[in-house]
Amino acid sequence: METVQWLDSMSIGDAEIDRQHKQLLQMINQTWETAQGKEADKQTGVALRRLCDYVIEHFASEEALMDPDAYPEYDRHVQEHIEGSMRALDFLEAASEGRVVGLEEFLAFAVEWVRHHIQETDKTLGEFLARKRAEPL
Ligand SMILES: [Fe+2]
Repeated sequence: METVQWLDSMSIGDAEIDRQHKQLLQMINQTWETAQGKEADKQTGVALRRLCDYVIEHFASEEALMDPDAYPEYDRHVQEHIEGSMRALDFLEAASEGRVVGLEEFLAFAVEWVRHHIQETDKTLGEFLARKRAEPL
């Protein structure tokens, strides 16, 4: 798998969320690197669990910024988070039952999912947050 790079065009205009997205991409790369390393048998499951934990933590911090009454994309956005989390947890569960099978396909899926989600869905959150910041107190 090729490593995935952060691009400035992925910025949603919120420094903390951008930082978390960078971290997420970095953790996807690290999980793949771990799976290629000498300690892969011992370490890949650990890296995967860390990645899944981080995904869930990251979704929660995005959702904490959303105001369900004011943010029109709330339902769709949260639904995408649920679908992404389920897919990650399903893979983690299958992996914990035995060897990690299909990791490259899963990470390739994760990269595409994250890219699409950032570009399409998180950007609407970024616009919502920018409008909120611009409102008079
Ligand atoms: Fe999101």
